[in-house]
Amino acid sequence: MANAIYPDLKGRTVLVTGGGQGIGAATVRLFAEQGAKVGFVDIAEGPSQALAEELNKAGGTVHFEKADVTDIEALKAAIADITAKLGTITVLVNNAAHDQRHKFFEVTPDYFDDRVAINLKHAFFAAQAVIPAMIEAGGGAIVNFGSCSWLMGSEDLTVYATLKSAAYGFTRLLAKQFGKDNIRVNCVLPGWIMTERQIALWVDQAGEEAIFRNQALKRKILPEEIAKAVLFLASDQASGMTSQQIIVDGGWV
Ligand SMILES: NC(=O)c1ccc[n+]([C@@H]2O[C@H](COP(=O)([O-])OP(=O)(O)OC[C@H]3O[C@@H](n4cnc5c(N)ncnc54)[C@H](O)[C@@H]3O)[C@@H](O)[C@H]2O)c1
Repeated sequence: MANAIYPDLKGRTVLVTGGGQGIGAATVRLFAEQGAKVGFVDIAEGPSQALAEELNKAGGTVHFEKADVTDIEALKAAIADITAKLGTITVLVNNAAHDQRHKFFEVTPDYFDDRVAINLKHAFFAAQAVIPAMIEAGGGAIVNFGSCSWLMGSEDLTVYATLKSAAYGFTRLLAKQFGKDNIRVNCVLPGWIMTERQIALWVDQAGEEAIFRNQALKRKILPEEIAKAVLFLASDQASGMTSQQIIVDGGWV
């Protein structure tokens, strides 16, 4: 199936956090195919470098900065480097997260704070870092990542799912505050998506049965199917849309 082409994304500077693998990598790939200038941060050096090299060889403009998004100063420095190399970021995709399982009664305050750092805090500070330049540029688009986990009632994910539900509140607040500056802010909620990590860790026979039992679409949903929704929200084709959450889950919830 040929992908849609969004002429306004050509030449735009895009930042994707956690863009080295999974849905983030699919998003980097699709933006690069549009001719966007794509900067991404990740901690996984090997796969990230391989992705950037592959896409640059194919004619893309892709730049990888190694940074741990839980280190806000490192994240800000990476954003400054990407801006210096690729120009003003007018699309921010707050994708990085980590869905480690946890038993409710075993969660400690330190563990909770650690999960906040990887699943929520960096999205706030990435937005804070890029919005001033977006305003100066006349506008931009931010796509935050939630998750259907809090709508599905997923087990052993209470902290993660709670923080992912906050992505929607954050989206609405930013959308209201910066709509006057022509910045649109939306949120994508993936269902259960077949990334390498999910397949390696959790997609066993019971998992497959759950997918086919719960989803309206009787097939697995792939990372690029989320990336396609991100591109649409980032593009001018979604010019009237802000403050929304879009579910891409094959009809599970
Ligand atoms: N895959 C799913 O089923 C699913 C479901 C619901 C929501 N989501 C959401 O989609 C987004 C992408 O998830 P995914 O499944 O592709 O994840 P993934 O684990 O496959 O990829 C995450 C990427 O982020 C990077 N990363 C992790 N910690 C980092 C850190 N501290 N600093 C910088 N980079 C870091 C990883 O190296 C990896 O490249 C997340 O926001 C996740 O919550 C995914």
